[in-house]
Amino acid sequence: MKVLVSDSLSNEGLEILKEHFTVDVSTGLSEEELVKKIKDYDALVIRSGTQVTQKIIEAADNLKIIGRAGVGIDNVDVDAATKKGIIVANSPEGNMISAAEHTIAMMMSMSRNIPQANASLKAREWKRNKFTGVEVKGKTLGIIGLGRIGSEVAKRASGLEMNLMGYDPFISEKRAVELGVKLATVNEIAKAADYITVHTPLIKETKNILDEEQFALMKPGVRIINCARGGIISEEALAKALESGKVGGAAIDVFVEEPPFNSPLLNYDNVITTPHLGASTQEAQVNVAVDIAKEVTSVLTGGPAKNA
Ligand code: NAD
Ligand code: MLT
Repeated sequence: MKVLVSDSLSNEGLEILKEHFTVDVSTGLSEEELVKKIKDYDALVIRSGTQVTQKIIEAADNLKIIGRAGVGIDNVDVDAATKKGIIVANSPEGNMISAAEHTIAMMMSMSRNIPQANASLKAREWKRNKFTGVEVKGKTLGIIGLGRIGSEVAKRASGLEMNLMGYDPFISEKRAVELGVKLATVNEIAKAADYITVHTPLIKETKNILDEEQFALMKPGVRIINCARGGIISEEALAKALESGKVGGAAIDVFVEEPPFNSPLLNYDNVITTPHLGASTQEAQVNVAVDIAKEVTSVLTGGPAKNA
């Protein structure tokens, strides 16, 4: 059987696949190129770079599984795949620690203006007063989405002695108590939080979950973090709130369009950004590659899919 890997995947994952299948790695393919190629393959392995559109799925006559090395499957037309009987599986656990650590790193960097101060000093400036920051201890962090990553963020923010509020329609009061999180609505979080971070999937219900209405409720100087998916927070509403001075800072890893070269968010000095690096650690890339390789191997050899 043949496996096409269309985004970069760690060797540890490739080796597992190669023990069982013929593996072709071909990254940066256009939709047209994938449409032509895909009919020869039994499995497609992707990260976030490949957009698996309806057109590609329609051409995928032999495909049995699309394996996503990572969490988000918003780059796959899952309905089209399901209609064609193709399994869509992800590897949800391998990068959660890296994504949570990146969120905390972004929150701290934003609070102490580290990227701006670094750029300033390397430009041979010595401006100590310009970069006075704030402590996070005693501040309220609102966490929207308390799944794998949101929970890990909560644990780490507890260690920083922050007060935690959270919204997730699918978690129990008991779990929230274990995490030290006070459950609240999105609007209650908007009113009370000093920092707000989102950790939901990008779905109909979460698109623009922080929009103009919520920004209007927020405290002046609120700081916003998005290391989940572009579009969970409205980029237009955030840009307006930065423009008016309502938002004191934002730390953004993910964008509606990536690369986000036309995003208004790149224009503000108090917005710090990274190019979708939440899962970019050596550990996470090995973990997700190995997990998805095992999942694809299981399905192609007649076994079950754990994370479909
Ligand atoms: P998860 O499925 O474990 O958790 C998501 C949580 O969101 C769940 O608890 C779910 O109940 C909750 N949720 C669903 N609908 C909601 C709603 N309407 N309002 C509030 N909460 C809602 O997922 P995860 O592994 O924690 O991943 C979270 C996000 O982080 C995903 O969007 C994922 O794609 C993204 N991610 C980004 C990076 C990165 O590189 N920046 C890395 C890993 C994951
Ligand atoms: C994910 O959803 O797993 C992340 O966005 C990480 C990635 O794809 O690199």
